[in-house]
Amino acid sequence: MEFKAPLLFVSALCLSALTSPQDSCGQRRLAATPGWSRIVGGREAPEGAWPWQVSIQIRSRHHCSGTIVSSLWVLTATHCFHKFLGISRRHFRVLAGLRVLSAPGGQTQVRSISAVKMHEDYDDVTSDNDVTLLLLSSPFNFTDHVQPACTPQNVTHEINLNFSHCFISGWGSTQYKGRLVNRLQEAEVELIDRRTCNLITWYDGFITENMICAGLESGAADSCQGDSGGPLQCYSEDEDRFYVVGVTSFGYECGLPLRPGVYARTSRFAGWLKTSQAASASAAHRAKLTLISGLLSAALLLL
Ligand code: ARG
Repeated sequence: MEFKAPLLFVSALCLSALTSPQDSCGQRRLAATPGWSRIVGGREAPEGAWPWQVSIQIRSRHHCSGTIVSSLWVLTATHCFHKFLGISRRHFRVLAGLRVLSAPGGQTQVRSISAVKMHEDYDDVTSDNDVTLLLLSSPFNFTDHVQPACTPQNVTHEINLNFSHCFISGWGSTQYKGRLVNRLQEAEVELIDRRTCNLITWYDGFITENMICAGLESGAADSCQGDSGGPLQCYSEDEDRFYVVGVTSFGYECGLPLRPGVYARTSRFAGWLKTSQAASASAAHRAKLTLISGLLSAALLLL
């Protein structure tokens, strides 16, 4: 009879772990508050600066980036997947805790992809709705080098967060038509409002409500080929954490004046993010819950 209490305890613990929402996100334990130094026009990212940044690889070669939003889910761009559906999923890998592509090191965690959930309304002509969720084969363990980013709850929440500084990061080329870089780069950028970005001299009406422009008017800092799917992350001083505000989507060449990077605006996809994760996770979740409630009732019966 002594095993009743431990059984009850373990079941309750499992239940709370399964049901409690993600409460810690967007915090970097290694890098201090962002250094405001002034990819294209970037610099090497310090260790642990972007612990939610992942490299999505095909046959061990970097293909696109992504952002960890929970232990089982990575947010990336649809254009990274929709033309690559012919490639078997087993050739894809997601690497987290990585800074140098050629030297993953002991902090790196590797997962395969068990489901690709592309946005139903992705438009490959306009790049509208360029978001995809990847369900991992098994969860990431959160460490100093691997952490989830926060996601805004809606557009108002994003605006109210009053971001002071935004950054892009990735292994993409440092110039248009250049090569991938081996070490993760970062650059500080500014959010550019849609009205400005849609001006005739800028993107001339091409930017939808589901997109957000970020960069510098001069073009001095930008994402580029190979950065796709990765985060545009902004720091909330009030909350002392980072939110993924955008998913790297497209741009006209790289680093040109009046042609900033265009990102899928995550605050417009909060509902989609929630329902997509719930739908795919619920089957597995239900199985676990049945097991745990079975354990719980067994323990209660023994009381
Ligand atoms: N579509 C690109 C990729 O596949 C990202 C390009 C971003 N371009 C830019 N100028 N910001 O990697």
